[in-house]
Amino acid sequence: MSTPDYPLLLDVTGRRVVVVGGGPVAARRVSSLVACGAEVRVVAPYVCESLWELVGAGRVTLALREYTPGDLDGAWLVHTCSGDASVDAAVAREADAQRIWCVHAGDSQTATAWTPAVARVGEAVVAVSAGGDPRCAQRLRNGIAAALADGSLPLRRHRAGEGHVALVGGGPGDPALITVRGRQLLGQADVVVVDRLAPRALLDQLDDDVEVVEAGKAPHAHTMTQEAINDLLIERARSGQRVVRLKGGDPFVLGRGGEEALACRTAGVEVEVVPGITSAIAVPAAAGIPVTHRGITSRFTIVSGHDGPIDWPSLAATTQTLVFLMGVARLAEITERLIAHGLAADTPVAIIERGTTPQQRTTVATLATIQSTADHRQVRSPAVIVVGDVVALRGRLETTQS
Ligand SMILES: C[S@@+](CC[C@H](N)C(=O)[O-])C[C@H]1O[C@@H](n2cnc3c(N)ncnc32)[C@H](O)[C@@H]1O
Repeated sequence: MSTPDYPLLLDVTGRRVVVVGGGPVAARRVSSLVACGAEVRVVAPYVCESLWELVGAGRVTLALREYTPGDLDGAWLVHTCSGDASVDAAVAREADAQRIWCVHAGDSQTATAWTPAVARVGEAVVAVSAGGDPRCAQRLRNGIAAALADGSLPLRRHRAGEGHVALVGGGPGDPALITVRGRQLLGQADVVVVDRLAPRALLDQLDDDVEVVEAGKAPHAHTMTQEAINDLLIERARSGQRVVRLKGGDPFVLGRGGEEALACRTAGVEVEVVPGITSAIAVPAAAGIPVTHRGITSRFTIVSGHDGPIDWPSLAATTQTLVFLMGVARLAEITERLIAHGLAADTPVAIIERGTTPQQRTTVATLATIQSTADHRQVRSPAVIVVGDVVALRGRLETTQS
């Protein structure tokens, strides 16, 4: 048996390819050939339903009869998969005589070309051959395709192309909590503009030549102004770079992602927004606290402790879970105002610092006592403050991590 050891990609656009056979194998081959623009001619006394559909769509010519010598005239390539060994052998002989490459599904001895297992991800085409073992090739192909799709294999292009900005929500901190799409875009980035609370462990997996720009956003210590960040995203995308703006949590939850997306759109720069798992829900969850729970409350409100005035009467008026982000510096005010507006002083409160990271720590008390407990334990930002009866579930739902 000859060894298929010279891989090649063929441009079949507008070129005749003959497929001898009308069953499911032929249908799969015809479908890929049509997708690649080949002029496909099928020779078979009968064809299966999916092949009929391709013929009916007018993309394939069909000779509904047995194969006869001369059917390969004008072909660049032939696939024979008739299911009849003597027909396939005759096709292979004629192909050889006419110097036409022949893929012979049933007999690799007489084949002169082999189809690999193929994965297409973006512009990348991966073709896998595994020494004549198609199942092994398919498994390998599937593994590579999955790794390309989730970004764990790099898919960075090294030729200039269109610039692009992706606002990627990195999730609350654990690097495993980014989305598949976010991870994929990170693997394609030329430059990553990163926030302090983004899952920074992911930066260790970037290629050495990926530029990392620190955008900062520590409380009261902004490394870059919002305008400077917007300008940088726009300028880099315009110069043809793939820019990932890696943010903590979800870009549109108290993350100024809307402003960044608008700035890009206004400047005519393509921008994709990839949602992330917000710390407002995931951090309480990591501490064993569901923000809603049947029989306790079906409502929750996310409140910024940093921006603008807070409508205390409406927060205190209904039975709901209150989730404060950026609230540690205003803890005293939060507790005093909620009690003053009628929330029971014994309402449970939890503060979860650095949720989903190895440094996660949870402090639980009541509205009346949380300030002194937090002072005693030296609670620090970043932390999520949860106020409401759902906090009491923590004892039953907490995991070893929380
Ligand atoms: C500027 S906001 C950004 C929120 C983000 N967009 C999100 O959806 O999670 C930053 C605040 O989120 C909260 N935060 C983010 N990550 C956290 C974490 N791992 N643990 C506790 N709080 C966190 C803190 O309240 C922090 O001050």
